[in-house]
Amino acid sequence: MKKLVIPVCLLALLSGCESVNTWLSAVPGVAGNRADTSAAAAPVAPPASGGVAAVAPAAAATPASAAAPRNPAPPTPVTGIVRDPGPRTTPAGAGGPLAGLDRDQVAAFNEGRAAFLKEYNIKAGLGPAMDLDHCAGCHYQPAVGGTSGSVNPQISFATKLGAANTVPPFISRSGPARVARFVRKPDGSLDGASRSLFTVTGRSDAPSACKIAQPDFHKEFAANNIVTRIGLPVFGDGLIEQIPNQALAENLTRNAPRKADMGIRGKINNFGRFGWKSQLTSLSLFAANAYNVTMGLSSDLFPQEASDLAECRVAGTPNLVADPKGKRRGELEKVTSFLRFLAPPVPSTDTPGGTASIVSGRALFVSVGCDLCHVPQLRTGQAQVAALRDKPVDLYSDLLIHNMGSGLMDYVSQGAAGWQDWRTTPLWGLGQRLFLLHDGRTTDVREAILAHRSPGSEANAVIDKYGELPPAQEQDLLNFLRSL
Ligand code: HEC
Ligand code: HEC
Repeated sequence: MKKLVIPVCLLALLSGCESVNTWLSAVPGVAGNRADTSAAAAPVAPPASGGVAAVAPAAAATPASAAAPRNPAPPTPVTGIVRDPGPRTTPAGAGGPLAGLDRDQVAAFNEGRAAFLKEYNIKAGLGPAMDLDHCAGCHYQPAVGGTSGSVNPQISFATKLGAANTVPPFISRSGPARVARFVRKPDGSLDGASRSLFTVTGRSDAPSACKIAQPDFHKEFAANNIVTRIGLPVFGDGLIEQIPNQALAENLTRNAPRKADMGIRGKINNFGRFGWKSQLTSLSLFAANAYNVTMGLSSDLFPQEASDLAECRVAGTPNLVADPKGKRRGELEKVTSFLRFLAPPVPSTDTPGGTASIVSGRALFVSVGCDLCHVPQLRTGQAQVAALRDKPVDLYSDLLIHNMGSGLMDYVSQGAAGWQDWRTTPLWGLGQRLFLLHDGRTTDVREAILAHRSPGSEANAVIDKYGELPPAQEQDLLNFLRSL
C-alpha cells in the first residue's frame, strides 16, 4: 500500500507549513489512519498562532509501552493504525555522571548539578529581564539536564514574589518552556534578537524604582511577529564537545553517493555543534550565554547584562565571578563541569514494541536514509579527561546544519546558518522527550518526521521514502525512535 504525503502550507508567511500534512491511503477507509497522542488529536493551530501552538504533553502511559514485555517478542501486530508510542515511561536512563570519572570529577559533577538547580534572586544578579530563574527549569525531563516536562515553570515564575508579568500567549501550563524572538522591528527591518519574556518589576526583592515593561507579546503574537525555541537536552554534551572538527568535515563527504542521490548537502557552522543551529562551539560559552540571555546574569564571558538599567542594578557586575584568588570555582565553571560530565541517555533494547521491532526499525532508519543526517555514531578525539577520550558517541547526528525547507523557517540567521538551516537534532534520548522540533510545535514523532518535508528541504526525498513504508515497518521505525 502506498501513501502520499501532501504537506498543506497554510502559513507560508511566518510559520510555514504547520503540521497539517494530510495522509492519503489507496485503501478507502484507512485514510487519516492516525490514532496518535493527545497533541496530534488536538486541532491544528489557527494562522494567528504563528507556529507556536501550545500543545499538551503526550499521555503519560501508552498501551504500547506499558504493556511491553521484558523479553524479546515478535513485532507488535499492526492493524492499520500506525502511531507514535509516546514517551517511554521506563525509568530515566539519564541524569547521572559519565562512567569512568575519578573521585574529583564526580565531586565537580555534583557541585555543578547543584549550580544547575540553583534558583537566582535579584541580589544574586537575576534580571532585570529574563525567561526564568534556574537552568533546570527548562532542562528537567526525564531527569535534571533534559528538556521541558509536563509542567511549565514559566507560568508560576511570571508572578513569583509579586512580579507583575502577564503570561505571553505562546506559553501554557502544559506546554514546553519557550524563549522568543521578534521577526521584525517596528520599522520593518529584520530583528531576530532574543526577547526576555519577563521582568523583575513588582517583585519583593526588586528596588522599587526599577520599572521595566514587558514587550507587548500579545500584540506581536497577533501580528505573527514571534518565533520561539524550546530547550535542548544536555545529556552527553561533554562527549559531543570532544568530537574533533575533522569528524564534522568528514560528515560532509560521508555517504556522498547516497546523499547526492537524495539531494542532501549539509554545511559546517564555524565548527559549532551546540544549539538548534549548531551556533556555539563550547559548553562554557553556551552556559555563559544561557546565564546571560535566559536569566540576565553577566559573567567574564558575557560581561554586559542583556538589559542593563542603573535603577534595577543590585548585584555587582559581572554577576558571576570566579574567586579572584582562584580558590573557589565560580558558578559558571561549576555548571560547565556538570554539562561536561553528564552521561549520555541509555536506550532501551525492548521498549516500546519489543526487541525484534526495534531491531527492524533501526535497519529501516538506515535503508530509508534518516542516517544520512542522523549519523548513528561518531567518536571523541584525544580529550584530556579519560572518560571523554576516544569514546563512541551514539548521538544520531552529523552536527551539520541542513536546509529544512520553508515549513521550518524562523527568519533567524546565526553564523553560517540561514533562516531555514537547522542542526540535525541528536536523537539520543528521544524516547523520553515530550516536545519536538525547535519550537516544540508537536509532541508526536510522526508529525515531527512529516514536518521535515516542505519546499526547499534537503530531507524531502528521504521523507518520500518514509511515506512508502508499509504500516508494520513504519511502526517498527517509530518504536525504534522511542527506544532511544
Ligand atoms: C528559559 C528556558 C531555559 C533556561 C532557563 C536555560 N535554558 Fe538551556 N536551552 C534553552 C533553549 C531554548 C535552548 C536552545 C537555544 C538555541 O539553540 O537557540 C537551550 C540549549 C542549551 C544547551 C545546548 C544543548 C545542546 O546540546 O545543543 C545548553 C548546554 C544549555 N541550554 C545549558 C543551559 C544552562 C547551563 C542553563 C543555566 C545557566 C540553561 N541552559 C538555562 C532554554 C533554557
Ligand atoms: C536532511 C537531513 C535530515 C534527514 C534526512 C532527516 N532528518 Fe530528522 N531532523 C533534521 C533536522 C535538521 C532536524 C531539526 C528540525 C527542527 O527542529 O526544526 C530534525 C529533527 C528530527 C526529529 C525531532 C527531534 C526533536 O527532538 O525535536 C526527529 C524525531 C527526526 N528528525 C527523525 C528523523 C527520521 C525518522 C528521519 C528519516 C525518516 C529523519 N529525521 C531524516 C535533519 C534530518
